[in-house]
Amino acid sequence: MSETVASEEERLIIPTIFDSDEYRKDPFPTYKKLRDYHPLYHDRFHGNWMLSRYEDVRAAFLDNENYNRAVYEEDGPYEFGSENVFGPTILELGNGEKHRWSRGVVAGQFIGKNLESFIPTIERIAAETIDLFSRRAAEDIAKGFIETGEVDLVEQFTIQYPIRVISGMLGLPREDEDQFVEWYQLLIEGLGIGEEFHRRGVQAREELNAYLDPFIQERRANPVGDDLITKIVTAELGGQRMTDAEVKGFVNLLLAAGGDTTDKAIGNMWWFVLQNPDQLAELKRDPSLWDRAFTEMMRYDPPVHTQGRRTQREIAMYDQVIPNRGNVIFQLGAANRDERVFKDPDKFDIFRKDLYCGKEMRVGYYANGEASHLGFGIGKHFCMGYAMARQESVIACQLLAEAMPNVRLKRDDAQGIIAPVFGSGGFRGPTKLELQFD
Ligand code: HEM
Repeated sequence: MSETVASEEERLIIPTIFDSDEYRKDPFPTYKKLRDYHPLYHDRFHGNWMLSRYEDVRAAFLDNENYNRAVYEEDGPYEFGSENVFGPTILELGNGEKHRWSRGVVAGQFIGKNLESFIPTIERIAAETIDLFSRRAAEDIAKGFIETGEVDLVEQFTIQYPIRVISGMLGLPREDEDQFVEWYQLLIEGLGIGEEFHRRGVQAREELNAYLDPFIQERRANPVGDDLITKIVTAELGGQRMTDAEVKGFVNLLLAAGGDTTDKAIGNMWWFVLQNPDQLAELKRDPSLWDRAFTEMMRYDPPVHTQGRRTQREIAMYDQVIPNRGNVIFQLGAANRDERVFKDPDKFDIFRKDLYCGKEMRVGYYANGEASHLGFGIGKHFCMGYAMARQESVIACQLLAEAMPNVRLKRDDAQGIIAPVFGSGGFRGPTKLELQFD
């Protein structure tokens, strides 16, 4: 096996690689080194531990005894939501009661309050709602560039599409959509490094929250619509209705969790199918295959590659001991390319037989020779927008493929997918995607 013959140099990882442009563009060679030679890697420079093999990442996601997500801890020093431009949301919570309640708030809208028994009905309703607004938003935006035969798909489509879908679902006036998109973009920039970005992001959040106030009041007084704001102001959770602040927090969460992620998902899908024209031809022949393209993208190079956890006790693994309260990074992007699980993992193939396709399962799936991707995490914090993201992305890609005959990259030197600078909180995707079509 290569492990016995690899030289010291071949095994070596210099931790500054994680801050480099090389790694932002192509982390996959480092991922392979991690998996093969350092399945538990201690990055002393950044103070992190890393897991990168599929089975280890999968098991760790499901292990709530040893790992906790909490960004915020009871004994501080960070106060819940105090520094995040999106304010306090479930995304910062650990494994406790507050997290369970918050999942209920979200699930009550998207998957059903009483998860188990309501899943079929509410999923159908959510699916129909998303479908409706996805189509409207995709068609509206596409009108703008369809005549020209050229588009920067990122600038002119993916960056705004998920936000317009969310705005539509909330039942906000269509004439306010541009403003809604602008606030969102300031919020995302606010995740970047630098006080000025942060200040402008927080200001955008305050303006957005003030904008929402009259809609909340009006729909509380007259709850006749079937939009999401009406649904959440009238929903009862544990016998109580949500406060105004909680309703606004919910909107912020939708933007924080469902904006940039879905934006990048669509960009990544297009980048990979354009690199594989034979597969693009198959997608044109049978548009239902976009669903598989989504799943393979979520394995091959999804928008989110890492999730952080804190240990709740010492953990002994691979002849090392992670201390209590150690920072552990689950390298799910590396796990998704694990050759122990996926054959030819560095090949993008929407027809691969070893990938579990179809609706994601929160416990992960590994049977019949098929494994699930880990792009939505699994277990207690499993993504709550998995169905929404899939449906939005697939609908957009189907409509775009139809609207762009003979689509191709405009430039030979297109940059492709890149991760934002370390610590900015953004996701992997193309920053530009200039296309031409007939
Ligand atoms: C392709 C797009 C998306 C990707 C790649 C993605 C990825 C993820 C991942 C990896 C997690 C796990 C976090 C963890 O383990 O700590 C997560 C959680 C979450 N996602 Fe998504 N997500 C996407 C779209 C969405 C959308 C559209 C929504 C809208 C509702 C959403 C809502 C959430 C929520 C609420 C959580 C937190 C669940 C919890 O902590 O219990 N996501 N997402």
